[in-house]
Amino acid sequence: MDMIMSRVDPAFRNDVLRCFEQEVYAIPARWLYDRAGSELFEQITDLPEYYPTRTETGLLESYSGEVAEMAGSGRAVIEFGSGSSTKTPHLLRAVNPAAYVPIDISGDFLADSAAQLQEQFSNLPIYPLEADFMRRLNLPDQVSDMPKLGFFPGSTIGNMIARTSVDLLRFMRETLGEGAQLLIGFDRIKDPDVLIAAYDDSAGVTAEFSLNLLHRINRELGGEIAVDKFRHIAEWNDIYARIEIYLEAQADLDFSIDGSVFSMVRGQRIHIENSHKYGLRDARLMLRAGGWSPVQEWSDEKDYFSLILVEAHPFKDAP
Ligand code: TRP
Repeated sequence: MDMIMSRVDPAFRNDVLRCFEQEVYAIPARWLYDRAGSELFEQITDLPEYYPTRTETGLLESYSGEVAEMAGSGRAVIEFGSGSSTKTPHLLRAVNPAAYVPIDISGDFLADSAAQLQEQFSNLPIYPLEADFMRRLNLPDQVSDMPKLGFFPGSTIGNMIARTSVDLLRFMRETLGEGAQLLIGFDRIKDPDVLIAAYDDSAGVTAEFSLNLLHRINRELGGEIAVDKFRHIAEWNDIYARIEIYLEAQADLDFSIDGSVFSMVRGQRIHIENSHKYGLRDARLMLRAGGWSPVQEWSDEKDYFSLILVEAHPFKDAP
């Protein structure tokens, strides 16, 4: 037990224990992605109901050439939260970059996917950067004089509230510098039934992904939560234009986590994720609020997903 406990991230423990001291229970979504969670998320991206990955990949296949025309070749491509970098090859092939900098908070993942990409692009200088991209970063010296093209796919920005998104966009602008471009994915507002199905699939993979958080608490924090007494819930909040994900207690429960006892009543929920969706022009307004000027937007024929290319122009207050 000691060995296992010593490997636990103290921030995870803190976030979980604090959750049950708040009036509204919530656990930050980043804790969904341990090894088991990351593998389940990979499965989600292949589900018939989960359209975002497939749609965005299709857009990159179709329009990377147009992106390349607008960006010009020889930029350094900087990917924020690169993960397994599965969407990157389409872009790299088209824009013929001078260098590639994948940024991820998980060093293991980063080294593996950088090595894999290096095999496919043997002449491309790759400089992996293990860092939290939610702050201003110092890019590797080797790319400091190159023009930059940021890449932020997956509508990951949608998992942040608007205020945090704007902060992030501003950090990215500082990191990449004036004259940089950024290619960013946004999931669009659509029929709520389509949205809900994408976050509550019929095979139950998404439910398993959510519930893995409780298993993780049991595994890593010595929890004794009856996971089978919880249900995964995906709801559309129309006012905030977002899917909200909850774990809901199906009975009155008492459980201990690392020796402390907590209780929940039937129907009480733990909020574990938001996934914001954007109407036509919503995303561009948010990008402009973050200091980025829109250059071009590409969407699929159903308008399920958008890729937007933006540029960091010198700031002018008016006109
Ligand atoms: N970034 C993904 C999204 O918002 C994350 C995600 C997909 C997710 N399905 C989920 C998060 C289910 C929690 C639960 O689309």
